[in-house]
This record gives sequence, C-alpha cells and structure tokens, in this order.
Amino acid sequence: MCGIVGYIGKRDATPILLEGLRRLEYRGYDSAGIALNGDGRFQIRKKKGKIDEGLARLLPENPAHGNSGIGHTRWATHGPPSDENSHPHLDQSGRIVVVHNGVIENFDRLKQRMLRDGHTFHSATDTEVLAHLIGEHYMKVKAKSGDLHPLTLAVMNALREVIGTYGIGVLSVDYPDVMVGARRGSPLLVGVGEGEHFLASDASAVVAHTRQVAYLNDYDVATIESGRFDVTSLGSDTAKVQISQLEFGAEAAEKGDFAHFMLKEIFEQPRTVQNALRGRIDLEEGMPKFGGLNMTTAELREVDQIVIPACGTSWHAALLGEYLFEEFAHIPTEVEYASEFRYRNSPIEKHTLVLVITQSGETADTLAGLRESRRRGHKVLAICNVVGSTIAREADGGIYLHAGPEIGVASTKAFTSQVSVLALFALLMGRIRMLSSSKGAQFLRALEAAPQQIEKVLEQNDAIRRIAQKYAQCEDFFFLGRQYNFPVSLEGALKLKEISYIHAEGYPAAEMKHGPIAMIDEKTPSVFVIPSDGMYEKSFSNLEEIKARKGPVIAIATEGNTRIKDRVDDVIYVPSTLEPISPLLTVIPLQLLAYHIAVARGCDVDKPRNLAKSVTVE
Ligand code: M6R
Repeated sequence: MCGIVGYIGKRDATPILLEGLRRLEYRGYDSAGIALNGDGRFQIRKKKGKIDEGLARLLPENPAHGNSGIGHTRWATHGPPSDENSHPHLDQSGRIVVVHNGVIENFDRLKQRMLRDGHTFHSATDTEVLAHLIGEHYMKVKAKSGDLHPLTLAVMNALREVIGTYGIGVLSVDYPDVMVGARRGSPLLVGVGEGEHFLASDASAVVAHTRQVAYLNDYDVATIESGRFDVTSLGSDTAKVQISQLEFGAEAAEKGDFAHFMLKEIFEQPRTVQNALRGRIDLEEGMPKFGGLNMTTAELREVDQIVIPACGTSWHAALLGEYLFEEFAHIPTEVEYASEFRYRNSPIEKHTLVLVITQSGETADTLAGLRESRRRGHKVLAICNVVGSTIAREADGGIYLHAGPEIGVASTKAFTSQVSVLALFALLMGRIRMLSSSKGAQFLRALEAAPQQIEKVLEQNDAIRRIAQKYAQCEDFFFLGRQYNFPVSLEGALKLKEISYIHAEGYPAAEMKHGPIAMIDEKTPSVFVIPSDGMYEKSFSNLEEIKARKGPVIAIATEGNTRIKDRVDDVIYVPSTLEPISPLLTVIPLQLLAYHIAVARGCDVDKPRNLAKSVTVE
C-alpha cells in the first residue's frame, strides 16, 4: 500500500518521478504528490485522486523542477483522501520533507506533545507527525553529526522514537545532493544507475532506468547521493547490502496493446504457467524437482503436517494446496487466514511444515505469520512471485513463480502459477512417500499440457464477453463448484466482487441447500464450475436444484459435454484434463467473466475502489 519513488542525479527529476508514480499507482491511488529540491527551496505539488486526474493535470499549470525529488502515491490510512492529506509532508520549519508508506502507531502521542510545544499541523496524517519529528532531530544534530550525514542522523534518531511500520524518503532543503531512505515493515529499494540513484517501493518504478537494485532490509537507513549510496542499520546488526539484477525488463511492467493490465495478465497465463513448470519436471522419473527448498528429501519425508497461511487469492490457491497435499501425499494440511493465524496459538507440532503463499512477498499478515512460525522454531517455505521481497528473503527456502510483475490489483496469473507449483510440490511430497513413478509421470504430462489448453480457453474471449454483457446488470451472483473446483468458485466470486462491486458468493455447490439457495431467483445467476470429473453427476443434481428455483446458470463444463447445453442458460467449455489440474483451466473463464462484467459496468478494472495491490498494513 502506498508507493514511494525518489530520484537524485543530473536529470530533471519531475518526469522520472511522475513516470515512477504511474508505475506504482497500483499500490494506492487516493492521491499523489511530489517534492522537488532545487533553487534552495522545496517545490511541492500534490493532489487528491488518481495521477491522471490530479497531479498530472496540476503540473503543466504549476511546473516543478530539480535534480532531486521524492514522490508518493497514497492508499489512505490516517485521514481521508484529500489534497491536505496527500504526501509529501513538511516539518514545522519547512526544511524537511517526507513521503511515507506504513503506519506510525504512536503518532497521536507524539502529536499531542508537539501541539503543546507549539507545532502546527496541516493534515490528519501520521506522516506529517513523522516529518515534524525528523525536523526536531534535524535541528538538534545539524552541526554535530560526525561520520553520518546530519540528515541521516536526524532520521535515525527520529525513527528510534517511532512505533510502527515505515518505508520513507526524506529530503532536506539544505542538502539538495542527498536523499535518505529507511524501512521497517514496508518495502524499499535503491536503484543504481550511472551517476544517478533511485529510491522505490518496488522495482517496477525503476526498471525503465536500471536493472541493478539493492533491496533494503528492516532497520536499514540509506544515504543516497547521485554517485554513491551507503546503508547503515538502526538495529544491532551491521547493514548487509547486495546489488541484484532484475529478472524482468521495462516492457514487463507495461500494458502493451491491452486495455488493462488485468487483461494482459490473463492472456499471459499460457506463458506464466509454463515458466512455473520450466526446469522442474523430470518425466522419466515421474518426479518434480526444485532448486530452492533448502530441505533434504529426508527432512521432507519427516513432514507430517502442513500449515499454509495466506490472504485473498493466495488463500484460495492454498485451499487447493490442501486438497493436493492430502490427496497425493496423505499429509494433513491446514489452510489459515494469515491475519488470524498470526494471533492464534495454533498447535503446530514438531514436524509441521509452514508454507506461506504470497504473490507480492510483502503482505503484512503473511509476513507476520512467517516470523511467528520461525520464532517458534519451524521451518518456513514460501511460494512467492516477487524476487527479493521481504518474505522471499526471510523464508528458509521456497519456490518462485517466475510470473513477472503482476500489476493488476485483481490477481490472475499469480493464482495459476501458485496452483502449478503447488501441484508440483504436492506431487513431490507424494512421490517420496507412496506414489509410483508412472502415476507421477502421468500427472506431469497432464500438467505440461495445461499451457496449451489455457490458450484454447482464451480463444473464447469474445464469446465470454457476450455472456458477460448479458449478465452485467445483475446485483448478486453465486459461484459454485465441488472438490478442486470449490476454491476456484471462491476465486471467481472474489474477482467479480473486487473489480465490479457486485455482491458475489463462492460456495461448495452441495452446501447451497443448507441456506443460501433461499436467495436464488430469476435475477440471481449462478456460475457453475462443473467439469466432467468424479463429482459430475452429484454436481449436476445441485445444478438442477438451482434451475428448479428459476436461477439462471452459466456452466463451465468440459468440451464434449453436449448434454449440459440444454439444461443451462450459457455454457463455456474447457478442455478435458485430470481433476486436480482442472482449476488451471476452469478459473480462466471466471477471470474473463469478471473482467468483462466490470468493463461493461464502467468500472476502473486496474484500480478498483478502496483497494491496493500489496497490503503492507495490518
Ligand atoms: O501478495 P499476496 O499474494 O500476499 O496478496 C494477497 C491478497 O492481498 C491478494 O491476493 C488480494 O486478495 C488480491 N486483490 C486478489 O485479487
């Protein structure tokens, strides 16, 4: 939540900041602002609303220039979206300016003390209090900072008084050639260019300028100049900074010819699923293989329980993981909402494997679950997309998705990649227990066919759009499926809710008669995920129950099932595959259905209201 960008070098910072903010806008779009440090003064421009509706319109009327600057795109926590609450924020003296991602929990106590000391505040934000605090320390240390730059020392002293989370960028009007960045709990990296440096919440903001980045760790404070940067730590350890090479280029963070990032990412899935499988399949042995688990086969064999904390779409993938681990390896598996798991005293026995799943690698609740599990001495593996993210770095080992940046707030390609690697991992756990190599090879062959099958589903995009338009004005939807397609139904409902604001519920199809079926009428469609698998006949009876109550039904069925056509209102076909692999195919029409319904309703698909891509606050 919230995106931070900073630049220091020889170029005009304004276009670089604006472009960086556009690329970070998926992290929050309540307001955006920049502060430029030039001519002995700050030039601050900030505006409520999305960048193109606010800041980008303001700048031509009221330009700002300088060779160093910081910018921010906001997802509101303290104080509603408004021009005043937009970042950057000044300190009391006007000599310090700050952008911030995170939550300063003790801001109110600090603010009350400052009010008594005569400070004036112009916003309701916790960030303005932090700016004032840094300003107070800056006044104290200005002349006597020793080895450290006075701005760095002021930031460090202020952060020692702070409880909460932060990723910050700070400038002083007295030192236009220095920018300070610091993090605790909110991601931040330094981009290393030729005679210039960048500061950013994530790599998409800098990849157009450099592929060399240094990820900051919690408690790191970076002093950044155009030609060098130093990192010192607020904690007890010395800062360890490594420069890594980004594995994607600028084009990966662009929409190309697609109308929205979400649509681009839906269409990327044949390739992203292939990337998730690449190099991880040994057909001869019927065995998956992974490079980064950091666990021996003997250790993996000892695992007698798996706990998977995750949030949102990753939680739905985790639920599929439960079905997969239990079916393939007979390992009891618990799926936990990370936000609940972190505060519960769940009994986790000695040989339990904690497996966190997260696209961003920054979700605060999932990170807290990981930390708590490690504190208790458990091994934690992570299934994660963003290389170098906090969770990827703090886990004992894991599996990367290699899906490239996911920018659309509604997660799509991450889900199918998560399911692909979960299928591989569950198969591995089965193979080192009781599954035969022939069963393993059969499953792997079916998995390898999935990318091409996804391609076939995507070819029906136009037909799915027409179906979407037919139902776009409905106000309630059900998504129903059984077994492996129950988590898919949950995912379909979440997609529709988050981008079209239509009320939608995902249910195991047979549960409907225990209550929710009371809501079915001719205006409440059910999307029935009903492939021709072991549950088909039972699911079909559930479908009949809906039809008997005049509920419209859109079926997601297997090619060749002509019988269903006469019983439902609309049908979308997917190719035939093994039951545990079917979610990779059945979820695609649900993603497209949600997308086209949202477009038909005029919703901003990539920036749905109230949401942000990466949830780094509790
Ligand atoms: O980055 P993560 O996978 O940890 O994110 C978890 C959820 O915040 C995320 O899946 C969210 O639910 C998406 N908006 C769903 O489309």
